[in-house]
Amino acid sequence: MNATTLPTPTDLSITPRDRRFGREAAAPRLWHGGRVEATAIYNALSTTFPAGEAFFVESVRAFREGAPPKLAEEIKGFTTQEAIHSREHDAFNKRATLSGYDLTKLEAQVEKRLAITRGRPPVVSLAATMALEHFTAILAHQLLAEPRHLEGADKETADLWRWHAAEEIEHKGVAYDTWLHATRHWPRGKRWKVKAKVMLYVTRNFVVDRTAGALELMQQDGVTGLRAWARLLSYLWVRPGMFRKIAGAWLKFFLPGFHPWNEDDRHLLRAYEAIAAGAPEPMRKVRRAA
Ligand SMILES: [Fe+2]
Ligand SMILES: [Fe+2]
Repeated sequence: MNATTLPTPTDLSITPRDRRFGREAAAPRLWHGGRVEATAIYNALSTTFPAGEAFFVESVRAFREGAPPKLAEEIKGFTTQEAIHSREHDAFNKRATLSGYDLTKLEAQVEKRLAITRGRPPVVSLAATMALEHFTAILAHQLLAEPRHLEGADKETADLWRWHAAEEIEHKGVAYDTWLHATRHWPRGKRWKVKAKVMLYVTRNFVVDRTAGALELMQQDGVTGLRAWARLLSYLWVRPGMFRKIAGAWLKFFLPGFHPWNEDDRHLLRAYEAIAAGAPEPMRKVRRAA
């Protein structure tokens, strides 16, 4: 570990919150404020979770043997959280299907990507998980830090996304620490090269596949061609601009001494817990308490 690296906080406990969403009443098909592009990108993202997070679980679990007790405990919390996320997003995806979306093309693409990684050594799956977990954690950070991302969304569905985001922040160091442990005998240069290569690879696939997936769903809502591209790109890169806003945090992954907990963003978790307990939702950016 590099001297500048801040490790996972010692007082962090990864606590699965076994919650169920959207079982009572059906959300509207365009649950994100009636907006085609906003609904499409979140639905496209959700399509990846059931199989994707099951893959994360198996990739990390393969390295549990011999892990220090604290890490082994965190892996347990991580795998439980991800398994529940898979269940809830599977239920969410079924509701999207019931409301008329055909997700089969998107699901086939996820399976295709996972099959490529599964054919490689287990440490490659771990590296892909570690990179995607950073990606997920910075998306989660943005989602909770800026209420604008879920502005106008169906309440129960927004709750699902916030709950998932909170747990992604809570367990963001687990795959990374497992990776550090699994590659502890590797020379530093090799470790950096592999992690950088894998991050570039998964990011490219993530951006290309989610964009294509969202465009496919927008087409199912009758929005096609240049109009669809313009609306989606503006949503992702301009306003609210999720992809633009995570760019800086994404780049930090390549710096020497990177660790997901170099940024302690547990203030977002605390704010989430307060909202989940019934406090009014913030209208503005959630900032760290002074
Ligand atoms: Fe998750
Ligand atoms: Fe995760």
